[in-house]
Amino acid sequence: MSNMVTNLAAVLPSAGSSLVVEERAIPAPGPDEVLVRNRAIAVNPLDWKRQAFGLFVSEYPIILGMDVSGIVEAVGSAVSLFKKGDRVLGLSPVAVTGNPDHAGFQTYTLVQASAVTKLPDTLDFKQAATLPASVGTAAITLFDVFGFPLPQQPTSTSPSAPTGILVWSGASSAGNATIQLARLAGLKVFASASPRHHALVRSLGATEVVDYRSPTAVADLASAAQRAGVEIRYAVDCISTEETIPLVVDVLTKFEGTKKLAHLWTWPEQIPVPEGIEETFVKGRDIWTERRDLAARVFNELLPAWLEKGEVVPQTARVIEGGLEGLQTGLDELRKGVSGEKLVVEL
Ligand SMILES: NC(=O)c1ccc[n+]([C@@H]2O[C@H](COP(=O)([O-])OP(=O)(O)OC[C@H]3O[C@@H](n4cnc5c(N)ncnc54)[C@H](OP(=O)(O)O)[C@@H]3O)[C@@H](O)[C@H]2O)c1
Repeated sequence: MSNMVTNLAAVLPSAGSSLVVEERAIPAPGPDEVLVRNRAIAVNPLDWKRQAFGLFVSEYPIILGMDVSGIVEAVGSAVSLFKKGDRVLGLSPVAVTGNPDHAGFQTYTLVQASAVTKLPDTLDFKQAATLPASVGTAAITLFDVFGFPLPQQPTSTSPSAPTGILVWSGASSAGNATIQLARLAGLKVFASASPRHHALVRSLGATEVVDYRSPTAVADLASAAQRAGVEIRYAVDCISTEETIPLVVDVLTKFEGTKKLAHLWTWPEQIPVPEGIEETFVKGRDIWTERRDLAARVFNELLPAWLEKGEVVPQTARVIEGGLEGLQTGLDELRKGVSGEKLVVEL
């Protein structure tokens, strides 16, 4: 690692091209921003989709990347929670602002202070980088889309008649965080995942987990809920394809009343929305706009305590070698599909 104070960025020069590492100026934080010297950066499905399909791009070149962790280099005039030298994770708002200074795929990233969390000493940077986008998405899903109350205490106890929630694809990044935050919110969690992740998914807080490939997955979840004495009227489909949505719908249909289904990708056109089910496409990006208040509660107040106490644990991080040069490999591998892990590079 060079000691020279430079900012290197993995830039996307044009739609569909490969990332190119270039030098660019180190940005200065605005009043409510934190400048992070990144030590680890994770790749997210939105990054490869933006590269491949030009999502949320008005003009090139752009810089991708949302999940960072590292050391605070400088803070804006209105920031009192963080200081130079703090070890933090941050969720970059680049998909909303389009400002390359906000992008994650570089040495220095500007992040809104509301989406920054101080790290316990026990959490290393590569693990920390797995968390920001997943936790932000889980928070929007549970506390904005579904409107569940935020856990008031780090160790909130379950309400007397717990609400059941289904998390389809519990071993995905989004599923991993959603299960943990749902458990902390006092919900009874039911999940699906490949069998090799069942022990993990239970340890995160799922009461029951089934193999999503099993022909009895839907029936098994319904009977598990019955045994637990809860109704599943809420579901999060972390994958949201024509394969997954019908199965999630089938689970919800086993229960009376109005059901809510939050999906992380667009609802498949060919599938009609059944009566009695309210579907919502989760806009994780609200964490940087309308719901900065929610971001601050979760990232500044709750998550530090959860991490300190081990009540929220990071996903398994797999390091792709090469630092910024490794990000393209990370995007390519993520596009092919990963199972129960987050791909990160270290700087
Ligand atoms: N709307 C938003 O704001 C928002 C925010 C974040 C992510 N997303 C989107 O949400 C999706 C998931 O993102 P992520 O980062 O969580 O993904 P990820 O971690 O890369 O997802 C990998 C997991 O997908 C699971 N999977 C693959 N095919 C499946 C199927 N047919 N049924 C059930 N599970 C399946 C695998 O589970 P097993 O290992 O158990 O087989 C694997 O662990 C992406 O499309 C992403 O773009 C949207």
